[in-house]
Amino acid sequence: MTPIDAKRPLQLNDQGQLRHFLSLDGLPRELLTEILDTADSFLEVGARAVKKVPLLRGKTVCNVFFENSTRTRTTFELAAQRLSADVISLNVSTSSTSKGETLFDTLRNLEAMAADMFVVRHADSGAAHFIAEHVCPEVAIINGGDGRHAHPTQGMLDMLTIRRHKGGFENLSVAIVGDILHSRVARSNMLALKALGCPDIRVIGPKTLLPVGIEQYGVKVYTDLAQGLKDVDVVIMLRLQRERMAGGLLPSEGEFYRLFGLTTARLAGAKPDAIVMHPGPINRGVEIESAVADGAHSVILNQVTYGIAVRMAVLSMAMSGQNAQRQFEQENAQ
Ligand code: NCD
Repeated sequence: MTPIDAKRPLQLNDQGQLRHFLSLDGLPRELLTEILDTADSFLEVGARAVKKVPLLRGKTVCNVFFENSTRTRTTFELAAQRLSADVISLNVSTSSTSKGETLFDTLRNLEAMAADMFVVRHADSGAAHFIAEHVCPEVAIINGGDGRHAHPTQGMLDMLTIRRHKGGFENLSVAIVGDILHSRVARSNMLALKALGCPDIRVIGPKTLLPVGIEQYGVKVYTDLAQGLKDVDVVIMLRLQRERMAGGLLPSEGEFYRLFGLTTARLAGAKPDAIVMHPGPINRGVEIESAVADGAHSVILNQVTYGIAVRMAVLSMAMSGQNAQRQFEQENAQ
């Protein structure tokens, strides 16, 4: 598999517009802000009686999920439908064939169906980049989560949630709590918060679930929950990603909850108006107490709603970046 080099502008066209959406690494603040502003305008579409705009009419969006998902897949489907695209979803098993063959076979088949965009989720880090490098140039690739690497639409829906509830990023303290090591959401959130100018980004977790060298992201590292949560404006809780754990990284779930579970008492150490977020699926009593998940500080279900608007923004921006690139190439060929 090709090494990940998100800095090269594979996901941008010659004018610097989005043509794929693979990672937040290296994307400028202006582009992230444009995604948030576009998503804000699409939120209004979701509140209408007729929830459709014609931006992707005549286009085909194909969800190719090599890994399970409910929220992400459904919200991508709804986003594409609300943009008037034709949508198909494939659940592709990776069990029988080797990864490279499966990806190539799937790609060639989808190209033959003349799909315009693929939304890809895969258990391997780098899968979306790999596909973007090998697919025919007219197809836009959107990363719906690749291994531990990136989950850029989740990152942006989290940023929309923070912006809508806190007004901006400039004066905020944001804590990301739990299984940072296995979390593509944590990586995308750290990059997005940094790019958008958040001055105080904290990661909190047991040593065994904090990646080596995480300070490179410009974050403060805490292994004590009470210290890390002190006076924060935003708490982002993560799921214990058991399916990605090789072995004994944790004594037990009970021990994890005792030390890192977000309870009402623990949340009292954050700012009085702090918001609590979680990408889902939540594990009640493992990383978060039910009273917190369902309580007044929780914006977990708002995140789901905002996710549709963010995915509409990304799909429409990538499609228009693809169209602009084709026009640019045609003009330059003449
Ligand atoms: C996240 C994912 O798949 O990375 N969930 C999601 O997209 N809704 C986080 C998780 O699975 O814990």
